[in-house]
Amino acid sequence: MAAKRRKPIKRIGVLTGGGDCPGLNAVIRGVAKAAMLEHGISVIGFTDGYWGLVERRFRELDFMSVSGILTSGGTILGTSNIANPFRHPEYTKTGKLRLRDRSDRAVETCRRLGIDALVTIGGDGTQIIATKLIKKGIPIVGVPKTIDNDLNNTDVTFGFDTAVSTATEAIDKIHTTAMSHHRVMVVEVMGRYAGWLALYAGVASGSDVILIPEIPYQFDKICKFVTQRSRVGKQFSIICVSEGAKPKGGSHVIAKIVKASTDPIRLGGIGKVLSDQINQATGLETRFCVLGHIQRGGTPTAFDRTLATMFGTQAMKLVKQRKFGRMVSFKNWKVTDVSMASAVAKLKLVTPRHQLVQAAKSVGTCFGD
Ligand code: F6P
Repeated sequence: MAAKRRKPIKRIGVLTGGGDCPGLNAVIRGVAKAAMLEHGISVIGFTDGYWGLVERRFRELDFMSVSGILTSGGTILGTSNIANPFRHPEYTKTGKLRLRDRSDRAVETCRRLGIDALVTIGGDGTQIIATKLIKKGIPIVGVPKTIDNDLNNTDVTFGFDTAVSTATEAIDKIHTTAMSHHRVMVVEVMGRYAGWLALYAGVASGSDVILIPEIPYQFDKICKFVTQRSRVGKQFSIICVSEGAKPKGGSHVIAKIVKASTDPIRLGGIGKVLSDQINQATGLETRFCVLGHIQRGGTPTAFDRTLATMFGTQAMKLVKQRKFGRMVSFKNWKVTDVSMASAVAKLKLVTPRHQLVQAAKSVGTCFGD
């Protein structure tokens, strides 16, 4: 019996989901250029993440539209960390907001546009939605993105290196003002429930105290440490605190709840809390600084540009090989692929025995434990 011939892949879609991140454009470029140049495949870019898929907002990505974007921050397609075809916000006739399952419409969008495969560039939220859309029949390949570096089954995600560099540079600047005023400066960095960003930026900037969610801190230990420093002539201290850090037996500081989001909790505020508490407990002059979205913006580092280019082109290879349900991954300095389900099964967290934690402790850094 003759083998059944598979429909050739002629047209693919690409979208960027979740928070923006340096290197997104480099991935879009990698996917689109490899598709067009190597495989003669045409590419559609859906705008604003999964909104575009449900609301049928898209544009053709020709060679010129992905040219000159390697170095630019953000995403030319727009993104959203609220959009979710399974919980699509719609207003009823009486003006009430309802979250409706519009995943069938997303599937229909792909069918109507003749999309043979979709590339989803995003973090855990985006890839969790992708795994559900695969079950509904959309062939998807994922590309891991997040400045938090918390996606499982990949050593690193693009965007992380840039965010670390940006945070490090900012803390370097805070260092000089802390020294001049003899102050304790508390710098709050992003990262959600993972301490990767605080750990790497904290070590790179020579922060005196690093507080991460994975190592709940004891407040009195931090106070003792900064007071001791001022006694031995170091009249300032830098505390690099992850937005997800919390005291032993305590809970996270929440900035706001974004109801429609897959991950509704937005962390933030620990920097101010700590700064006030340390001032009250020690009498030392304190200030806090929240680095915020600066960490997500700007041009990607050379590392992120190269990683994103490898990720984009590898995603296209996976599409060609019909390895749907797979996500590009970087392991032991090699680009490879893993199952998307394994990448979202759990968050990748810092272990207290991580080599960088140990190295930081060896040079005298306090983790508040
Ligand atoms: O996941 C990336 C991230 O920047 C987190 O570090 C942060 O907690 C969150 O997104 C902030 O989200 P938003 O864009 O909704 O402010």
